[in-house]
Amino acid sequence: MNYRQFARKQIVSIRKTVGAAAVVSALSGGVDSAVTTVLGARALGRRLKVLFIDDGLMRQDEPQTVRKTFARLGIKVTVVQAAPRFFAALAGLTDPEEKRKAFRDTFYKVFSEAVRRSGAEFLLQGTIAADIVETRKGVKTQHNVLDQIGISAKRGYGFTTIEPLRDLYKPGVRKVGRALGLPAAMYERMPFPGPGLSCRVLGEVTPERVAIVRRACFIVEQETARFRKFQAFAVLLADRATGVTRGGRRAFGHIVAVRCVDSKDAITASPTRLPWRVFMKLQQRITREVPGVVKVVYDLTPKPPSTIEYI
Ligand code: XMP
Repeated sequence: MNYRQFARKQIVSIRKTVGAAAVVSALSGGVDSAVTTVLGARALGRRLKVLFIDDGLMRQDEPQTVRKTFARLGIKVTVVQAAPRFFAALAGLTDPEEKRKAFRDTFYKVFSEAVRRSGAEFLLQGTIAADIVETRKGVKTQHNVLDQIGISAKRGYGFTTIEPLRDLYKPGVRKVGRALGLPAAMYERMPFPGPGLSCRVLGEVTPERVAIVRRACFIVEQETARFRKFQAFAVLLADRATGVTRGGRRAFGHIVAVRCVDSKDAITASPTRLPWRVFMKLQQRITREVPGVVKVVYDLTPKPPSTIEYI
């Protein structure tokens, strides 16, 4: 496929679809929504309003980084502060699918309010083919796939969604990013799930538990930065384990799993063969820098039978 041509076609198609109507883009900072937002901005210029929902479940420093990166591209990003609403919706939930649905419902409530305030009729979304395939198969409820499972965004939320990347898989999306002239740091970014760090906290999602996994993910990203891999992150397990403090006292603390996988399209994946010294550095930094963690494990499972994320 010629990705420059694909981008041009999508830009023309967005313009044609929306006519004179107002349009918003849902930017999360990930590759998919970043590429979608830039397609929208190239199609509509300043008529495109870009919203970034701060759900409190983002990677370290994400809202500030996204705002700065897009400002450099001449795209203004409006940050909607909504973390307390997401934590309230997730409080007490431990079932993975209930958590995903709570996230999705809150996302669309917060988002549709923001869209209504902006008067937009259309919503640009970064849904890609893998999201649709996995939701249809019933593997996971992707937060951004509504129409595919019979929920009408128009009836339920009052706007029509436009998904220019819906037929592409990740490698294709990255190529569109490159064809659009985006910085490599943006289109080469690791995938990050829509429900954010709530996918990486097993059991209840609280601000404290998210802070633990955010710090651990940051360390994993730093320590694996020089290795070629598809994705690397940390997960906070719901169980606890016994450890000892430096003073020799018993501690009953958190268990963090490190996941690092090689994959082409996220449909299958295998664990990355990291050097032993990297594992040692990871366990050392995570137990020292993340309070309360007494155990760090490396996940050896391919997909299938596992999935990449934990829920
Ligand atoms: P799994 O865990 O299903 O993930 O093997 C496949 C790829 O998709 C990402 N992922 C998600 N992306 N919303 C998203 O936008 C989600 O709910 C979601 N769940 C998983 C994941 O990070 C991996 O790259």
